[in-house]
Parts: sequence; structure tokens; C-alpha cells
Amino acid sequence: MERKGHTAVVGCQWGDEGKGKIVHLLAGERNTDGTNKYNYVVRFNGGNNAGHTVVTEGETYKFHLLPSGVLHPDIVNVLAHGVVIDPEVLVGEIKELNERGKFTDNLIISNIAHLIMPYQKIRDGREGGKIGTTGRGIGPCYEDKYGRRGIRIEDIVSSSGKIRKDHFAGKVREVIGWYEEHGFIDAKGEASLKADEIVEQYIDFVGHFKDCVTDTGRLLYEADKRRKRILFEGAQGIMLDTDKGTYPHVTSSHPTVGGIGIGTGIVPELGTVIGVVKAYTTRVGEGPFPTEQDNEIGNYMRDKGGEYGTTTGRPRRCGWLDLELVEIAKRVNGLTEIAMTKLDVLSGLPEREMNICVRYDSDENPIYLPMDGWREDITEVEHFTQLPNSARRYIGTIEGLTQLQIPIISVGPGSKQQIVREFDYEYE
Ligand code: IMP
Repeated sequence: MERKGHTAVVGCQWGDEGKGKIVHLLAGERNTDGTNKYNYVVRFNGGNNAGHTVVTEGETYKFHLLPSGVLHPDIVNVLAHGVVIDPEVLVGEIKELNERGKFTDNLIISNIAHLIMPYQKIRDGREGGKIGTTGRGIGPCYEDKYGRRGIRIEDIVSSSGKIRKDHFAGKVREVIGWYEEHGFIDAKGEASLKADEIVEQYIDFVGHFKDCVTDTGRLLYEADKRRKRILFEGAQGIMLDTDKGTYPHVTSSHPTVGGIGIGTGIVPELGTVIGVVKAYTTRVGEGPFPTEQDNEIGNYMRDKGGEYGTTTGRPRRCGWLDLELVEIAKRVNGLTEIAMTKLDVLSGLPEREMNICVRYDSDENPIYLPMDGWREDITEVEHFTQLPNSARRYIGTIEGLTQLQIPIISVGPGSKQQIVREFDYEYE
């Protein structure tokens, strides 16, 4: 299927839809002359609350911060300023990849991205339990950003590459003072919060990647003008969007197409917006989940789908596919197509007992369309026509109800385990 212009890949549920696999797949696409279809892969929101898994050539990679195009050496991978960066995690991911023989000199990082600081992690650990955050300091980091007391990479390293130790130390002391004053931390009891140690540690971390730091907004603007193609990689999903999600059980950034402009500094003309939809629904943390199956069906999905958080290891709540969410995602993001993931997980569910939520009633209860299940293992299926009839009907029903085509259907974690369709089929 020929896609034109820049492409966005966004999650249509509560995250964990399998966006990393789709981004890795698209980033590997080639033009007929052998050149890359995409030149840049850009993360624009969230931080290491995300967990993107890529399985390729028998190896599994779990990225929390690095863009999922990083395994393609000829693509520039960008952490734009909408991303909040825990530098220790970033250095760890870079080191791990290097140790596994992969290069990361295809990475660039925004000079104005905010850094997640130790006191923010402590605060998140204390307060985040109410909504079940990942505890990585994400919320407090964005809160400090909007409270105008955040610390950005350029507070540690100047545009000429000079380390700004005094400036940085002054800011750290000031913010720790503010945290103490407001009772968010108790500096005397919190041995890990010695400002001088934080300063030394963070200068060391940033030293590892300071050559990658630049004005990514300008760079992307110029790339766009030169007609380079950009793939934007959303983290989390629409239902965790601060505004459009299930507030207040949301994250602190915008995993929607709207987040791209805010998080990158350019307003790209998107040719394609791919909504990634898992064949069923999952959620980690607290908050509403109308189609949740807190029973043996949910347990089946969790066990078969390995539904445990990539970041925290927490068991995910599981339930039926909810097209009400997809409808919101379509409207808010201007989706042009769906990529469906984990269809294989539904194999073996009791026949005649599958459901798709088509909409909610006036009390917000799901209205289900019953669907036939299928028994066959589909993890080796390469063509749509090889799928069991019920699986084809499942896909066809979703296409009919959403009025969106599903050109990519993932049937397993491996980078080759997907059906890529050309739309020359008929439903049965
Ligand atoms: P935070 O992003 O750590 O502040 O967590 C806020 C909510 O978003 C919690 O319910 C988390 O479980 C959820 N969340 C954050 N990132 C992800 C993700 O990448 N996948 C799924 N849930 C996430």
C-alpha cells in the first residue's frame, strides 16, 4: 500500500497497542530504488512510562525512551522536546544497544527537552498510587515544566557544548528548596536528594549524549522543507491523553496527533495517520474500562497475550474490543487507517462467545455485537485469505463499523508476523 507524505502512528486505546512494532515495520520500508521511505522517526510525547517492544531477527528489544526506528541505522531518530527524559534511563538504553552491537549515532535529542529529576520520581512514587502511575516521575516533570521550574537539557549543556555547572547547580538547589517548602520531599530524611550529588550525576549522564543534543524543531522544519519524510511515533494511547482521555486517570502529555505540533515545534502536513488498535482492549492502572472482563476471558487474554506492563511488570486489565474508543481516536486524530495488533491472541476463545463493543448505551454501558471465535493458530498466516472465516469476519466487521481500512494485521510479536493487505479481497 502506497502511503504519501509524513505519517503519524498513534495509539487508539489505553496504550500498549503495539505501536513500537508498527513503527519498526514502517521504518524498514523501502522505495523501489532501495532508498528508505522514511528519513526520520520522531517521538514527541511521554517519557520512560512507555514501553515499546520490537522483536527482530530473533532478538527482543524493549525501548522506553529511544524511538522505535533506532534499529535502522540509516534513519535519524529524534527525541523531540515534548518528551521528558530520564537521562539515566537514556544512557542505559544507549549502552545496552551498543553492547548488543547496534549503533546509536543516528539519534538526536532536543536541547529544550525537560529532564526527569530524582525529586520528581520520589513525588510520583508517593502521590501516583491514587491513579496507578508508572512511578517514573512523568507527572511531576510535566507539572514542573508548566509550573516554570523544570530543568531542561540546555540548563546543563549550552548550544556550544559547554557544561553549565554553576547555572545547573543553582537551579537544582532552588527547585529542591521549593519541593521542601511545599512538603513534597523531606530533604533531611531523603539522603538521595543531595543537590551536589545530583549535579555531578546528571552532568555525567548528559555528558554521554551531549553530542546528540540540538535544536530538533529547526532540524525537522528544514527536513520538511527538503521534502524528507517523517514518521511520528506516539507513546501511550488516546484514552491516556490529558484532555481527551479518561481524566483524571490519564498521563500528563498528549499521545494524539495534536501532541505532534506541541511536542516537536513543527506543524507537519500528515499524509497518513495510522491508529494502532489491539484486537481486544487492555489498561494498566486505575480508571474506567467499560468492556473489562475481570473473569476467565480476561485471564485468557492476559496469559496468551503476555499482558504485563513492559515498564512496571504490572498485570494489565483485559477486555473486549471497544469501538467507541476507536471512534473517538478517529475523530480526534483524523485517522486514515487502522493497524490491528495481536489478532492471534483471540484464537481459541470459546466459539460464539466473542464480542465487539459497538457503542455505549445512555448509561455508558457497552452494547455488544456477538462474534464467532476461531480455534486455529494464526501466528504463521501471511495472507488475509488464509485466516479462518471468523477472523476475517472480525476484521471486516471492524472495517465496516469504523469505515477505516486495516491494511496491517499483526499475528505475532516477530517483525515478520503480519499480514499486509492490498485490498483485493472479498469478505465472506
Ligand atoms: P504516568 O504516565 O506514569 O503518569 O501514569 C498515568 C497513567 O497512565 C497510569 O494509569 C499508567 O499506568 C498509564 N500509562 C502511562 N504510560 C503508559 C503506557 O505506555 N502504556 C500503558 N499505560 C501507561
